[in-house]
Amino acid sequence: MNKSLFDELGEENIKVLVNRFYDLVFNDERIAHLFKTDKALIKEKQRLFLTQFLGGPSLYSEVYGHPKLRARHLPHPIGIKEAEAWLSCMSQAIATLAVGQHIKDELIKRFVPTAMFMVNKEN
Ligand code: HEM
Repeated sequence: MNKSLFDELGEENIKVLVNRFYDLVFNDERIAHLFKTDKALIKEKQRLFLTQFLGGPSLYSEVYGHPKLRARHLPHPIGIKEAEAWLSCMSQAIATLAVGQHIKDELIKRFVPTAMFMVNKEN
């Protein structure tokens, strides 16, 4: 059986990824203004979510219920430009991980369609 991306990365890499990602997001003038909640809480939610998104235990759903990600993003105006900014922060954060290139490529492949699915306005 193929290992999930969660198995390949492990909990520590997911923590590192989430930390670096939001440090970039909160300093990115294209999207930083959208994030209004406490940074530590956003990081923790994303750690729980990515654990299950990448094939690990359903930590996010245990606490917050069904992710309904697109619905949860509707209050935030997201166009293609914002999705690209999000993906560029995520790509940069992924690039810093100490894992093989194949894993990095697989991660990007998972994030691109999900980010595009969040687009809810025209730029
Ligand atoms: C396409 C660009 C995206 C933008 C601009 C964006 C922006 C946001 C914003 C503004 C929030 C609310 C933060 C707050 O509470 O202040 C949020 C929450 C969240 N986002 Fe995104 N997001 C994007 C894509 C994604 C993707 C691709 C994923 C998952 C792979 C994701 C996962 C989450 C999660 C899990 C939350 C927390 C939801 C909750 O409140 O429980 N987002 N996002």
